[in-house]
Formats: sequence, C-alpha cells, structure tokens
Amino acid sequence: MTSSTHPTESVTPDENPLAEGIGLLPPDPTILIVFGAGGDLAHRKLLPAVANIGMDGTLPDRFALIGVSRETMTDQEFKDAVRHSLTTFSRRKMDPDVLERLIERTRYVGGDATVVGTMHRLGGVIDELSGGEQLDRLYYLSMAPRFFAPVIETLGAAQLINRNDKHSRVIVEKPFGTTLEEAAELNHRLLSVLDESQIFRIDHYLGKETVQNILALRFANHVLEPIWNREHIESVQITASEDLGIGSRAAYYDGSGALRDLIQNHLLQLVTLVAMEPPARFSADDIRAEKAKVLRAVNMPSDDQIHTIAVRGQYGAGQIAGEDVKAYREEDDVADDSRTDSFAAIRLDIATWRWAGVPFYIRTGKRLPRKLTEIAIKLKPVPLAAIEGVQGAEPNELVLTIQPDERVTLRLLAKVPGPGMNLRPVTMDFSYGAAFLSQSPEAYERLITDAMRGDPTLFTRDDETMAQWTIIDPILRLWQQPDTAPPETYEAGSQGPESQNSILLPGDRWRTI
Ligand code: BG6
Repeated sequence: MTSSTHPTESVTPDENPLAEGIGLLPPDPTILIVFGAGGDLAHRKLLPAVANIGMDGTLPDRFALIGVSRETMTDQEFKDAVRHSLTTFSRRKMDPDVLERLIERTRYVGGDATVVGTMHRLGGVIDELSGGEQLDRLYYLSMAPRFFAPVIETLGAAQLINRNDKHSRVIVEKPFGTTLEEAAELNHRLLSVLDESQIFRIDHYLGKETVQNILALRFANHVLEPIWNREHIESVQITASEDLGIGSRAAYYDGSGALRDLIQNHLLQLVTLVAMEPPARFSADDIRAEKAKVLRAVNMPSDDQIHTIAVRGQYGAGQIAGEDVKAYREEDDVADDSRTDSFAAIRLDIATWRWAGVPFYIRTGKRLPRKLTEIAIKLKPVPLAAIEGVQGAEPNELVLTIQPDERVTLRLLAKVPGPGMNLRPVTMDFSYGAAFLSQSPEAYERLITDAMRGDPTLFTRDDETMAQWTIIDPILRLWQQPDTAPPETYEAGSQGPESQNSILLPGDRWRTI
C-alpha cells in the first residue's frame, strides 16, 4: 500500500488524481437557523464549519445564517461574535471574501425559543432574508436536550415547519435522551410534528472521513469482504481514549458518564459500520436499515449477568504528559462521592451468521495516556504451528485509526532475513494525509452540507437510536442501583481500571493505548 498509493512528491493537491471527486456540488439555497447560537458548540464548531464549507465553494449562493438564543444582542453584536469565532476557531485561515459575505447575510433573534412570539419574530427575519422566494430551511438545535421537543413544537405552532414541508429540516444534537424511555418519548414528540425524513440526529463520528472509509474499505476491496466474518476474525476491539479530563463540563458530564457520552452513540455507530451486511443499494435507507439490524442482533445477557460484559471506572489523580492532574471527584462541580463513570468498557455479542461468537470489545475513557480512536480487527491465528517461529507470534491485525492520525495498518508476519524461518510482525501502512495530500474536513462540515442537501445517510435514524438505547439501558440500570459496586478508581495517565480485563474472553487482551 505505502508505495503504490503515495503520489510522487512533486504532485500538488490539485493535480492529485486520488483527490478527484472530493469536492461536492452546492446544495439548494438555504437559511441555516442555529438555536443556541451563543453556546460553545456553535462558536467552536458549527460557525467555523459553515465558514469552511464557504471556503470550499459549497455554500449555496443565497445562503443566510440566523442565530437564535436567549441573550439580548443586536445583529451587529452577533456579527462581531461570529467574526471572532471564525477567526479564532476555523481550521483554515479565513478567506476575507467568504467571511464578509457570510457576515453580511447573518442576522440575530434573541428570546426564548419555546415561546411562539420569538418564533414569529424569527419568521419575520426568515421572510426578509428570503425576499419572496422559497428558500430551504435548516434548523440546528444546538442547545440543552430538554429544549429539543419544546422548540420543535413551538416551531410547529408558529407554522415555521410542518411534516409535509420537504424544504425544512431539523438537526438535533446529542444526547438524544438519557435513557431508553426518554429517547422514546423524544422521538414520539418530534415525530408528532415532523416526518422522519426531516429529522437529522447528529452523531459527529459519522462525519469523520476515516469513519466513512470503513464502508469503502469493506465493500470496495475484494480482499477484505471474504474474510470479514466469524470464520476468519477472532475479535474486534474499539477504543476511544482521551487524555483530557472533563474540564468545565461537569454540569453535563456528571449526569452522563462515559457509557452514555461516547459508547451509546459514537462507538455503537462504529460497531454498526464494521458489522453491517452490504446494503442492497448505497441509499440512506438501505444503509441505515442494515446498521439497525446489527444493533437489533446484539444479544444482551440477563440482568444478573450484565456485570460480566460491562465495567466502569473513574479517574483518580495522576500525571498526564508529566503534569499532575486532579481526580474526577476533585473537578469543579463534581460531588465528592460521585459514581459517574469516566471510563466504560463493554463486550458485545452480535448474534448473526456473520458474527456469532466474535467478541466486540468497546471502551472509552478520559484521562488515559493519549487521544486515540481506533478499530482493531484481529484475525484468527494461522494453523501452521509446524513453521519454526510461528508459535506464539501475533496473528494478523487490521487497525483503522480514526484519530489523531487517519490511517489503516495491517500487521503481517514476515520472515526475518537470514538463515532459518524466523518471523517478525511488520506493518503495511496507509496514511490518509500522505495518500490524498489533503486535510480532511471537520466532521461538522460534511454533516451540515449533507443536511442542507437533505441526505440523511450519515445521520442516525429513529430505529437505530432506539436500538442503541436498548443495548445501553440495562447496563445503566445496573450501575444506578445503590448496592452495585462504585466505579473502580484508575490513576490518571494509566491504561484504565484493572477490571476492564474481567470482560475479556480467554486469550484476549486489550491493546496498549
Ligand atoms: C463528544 C463527547 O460527543 O465527543 C465528548 O461529548 C468527547 O466528551 C467528544 O470528548 C470526542 O469527540 P472527538 O471528535 O474529539 O473524538
């Protein structure tokens, strides 16, 4: 892979033949309405994503942006805030023309978005920006989850959206409920105003290039698909580790925990992409139907056996990159006796013909040694014990690294030069950046563009959300019982709690982070 996919050094990104088709056609004229426009997510991620879409030439000509939040602000004050966020957080240096065009078509509406009067004022601004034409509308709910349903209901009451209006869509941020019951209730309330095709439940992992590459790798390469099953694969291991702690996010995180924060959504989505059957067609509904089937095939043990497949931990004080860091319970606004999981690991059994018996190990945690998201597919050992040197050698492993660097590596065994047949692991390595000579766009850029185009492929459908919660809910219920042991404390900067090993099947081990 390394040598054949790397363009020669003299090739510029524009000439790189592998980069062909990376650009996308612009969507229809759209007004993007961001609820929670004063918040952190909007300023750090969403607004810079919009500007970067603009720099790629993919924003529609008549694009306009309306910020809505509780704060009282003039249009000019909001424009200044947008300018600040774009120049501070954009992944690329802002193109002044794009910046000015965007600012010029930016407006602000202050007020409580659960009050019809605020929505009527919003409607007035939409009309003014539409100039008598019907522009598509994309409402982005970047706000606390308790507002999702009331805001949609108020949009409906103010006649700014209805289920027959194919030109209006809603992006709903995470978390989509905090329990199975809440998610069901939220789906019910949204679907009483909207059609499922108008709801774009965001999971930003699906916007990551390397995550989408899972499907390309699996279904566009003949070499992989025949071995992608229980006959050849020993185990699948997904890790999403972070060196950061919870920072100033206790208000959200302490009520959530690692299982809800990353496994319920992002990591179960990775599982679906690794495990799904090839779709009949590459359409949004066919792909999402196959993903939902994987989640529904997960075989959960009875409540009294959940502890054999799920463990949790909480970081104590320790060191990260040589710096002392404090324990979870010492973080601002965290109670001294908090039982919130900052680490969670689970083992899933996907009871399908393709996967039965292959353990899917999934773990995530804060204050681990480094930021790393990877999927490791371990193949079965070869039956050639007769070759000297094979015994005890590690089997082949395909590792898809999603972050921090985007790459695919295959561990092979090769003969060590010299007499005899001694083997050593070597790796074939494909690096995204080196092969395509381009920086991958931020996940939000892809997702906002897709939502403007009305393409829901990379968004979670209602049945997927419910199936994800069905897997997670029994674990959470166990962990919430007062007589269940609290999370095991692990030292910050370590590999995580010792108890993670208890869910491994004999012969398996966690990869080093
Ligand atoms: C978010 C979680 O959804 O994902 C955060 O709420 C987490 O706690 C983040 O840090 C990780 O995202 P990424 O893209 O940095 O892996």
